[in-house]
Amino acid sequence: MRTLILSDIHANLEALQAVRAHVRRKRFDRVAFLGDAVGYGASPNQVLEWLRALGTGLAAVRGNHDRVCAGLDSAEYFNRYAREAASWTLEHLNPRNLDFLRGLPEGPLDLSAEVAICHGSSVDEDAYVFSAYDAQLAFAGLPHRIILFGHTHVPSMFVLREQNGSQTLKVRLLTGRRLVLDLDPGCRYLVNPGSVGQPRDRDPRAAYAILDDTQQRIYFYRVSYRAAEARRRILGSGLPPVLGDRLLYGA
Ligand SMILES: [Fe+2]
Repeated sequence: MRTLILSDIHANLEALQAVRAHVRRKRFDRVAFLGDAVGYGASPNQVLEWLRALGTGLAAVRGNHDRVCAGLDSAEYFNRYAREAASWTLEHLNPRNLDFLRGLPEGPLDLSAEVAICHGSSVDEDAYVFSAYDAQLAFAGLPHRIILFGHTHVPSMFVLREQNGSQTLKVRLLTGRRLVLDLDPGCRYLVNPGSVGQPRDRDPRAAYAILDDTQQRIYFYRVSYRAAEARRRILGSGLPPVLGDRLLYGA
């Protein structure tokens, strides 16, 4: 089974289109979406329509921005720009897309006995997994060997090895245009594919991953896209300009 892993698209149609073009010749059996389809970007309806069209080929959880942009929660913990973007998004969503957004489940969600997906951490959809301590909590929250998560917008992987009653936890930041990692059957993994639509690791390229659980291998990719066009449409839509500017720097 090959799973295309997408996270944090954030209403960036140009980035999503570039990822779709990049995967066109790669085989995958399903899409796992780790949350934050909307918020920040100028194309919430187009992104949600694409996700909806995947039908049963999609396994998805909501993100914190999905929850707030759908009007299911207040934006009181958001910064000013995220708050403005959330109310803009709610105003612009059409009824079918709003229904779909409201129906996205809170994670974690099982993809199989071995693989689960969540937005932030397995124990809290709003928690960021940056540190080894965050990762320990996330591993302890689920029995799955492979946990796919998003929310930080930084491609990264935590590897937990348990041997003779002791644990070793390693963190790996994932950089570069293409990276292939073989999974060790004796380890557990927390894997963040990075963000499709708003990367924050100073690399402005869209990020995604493919998990091949038959081959026990994971592929990470970065794809250049028309960020200037995504920015231009953000500026033209009345969203805060900083949300367009940051796309140029991956920040
Ligand atoms: Fe996000």
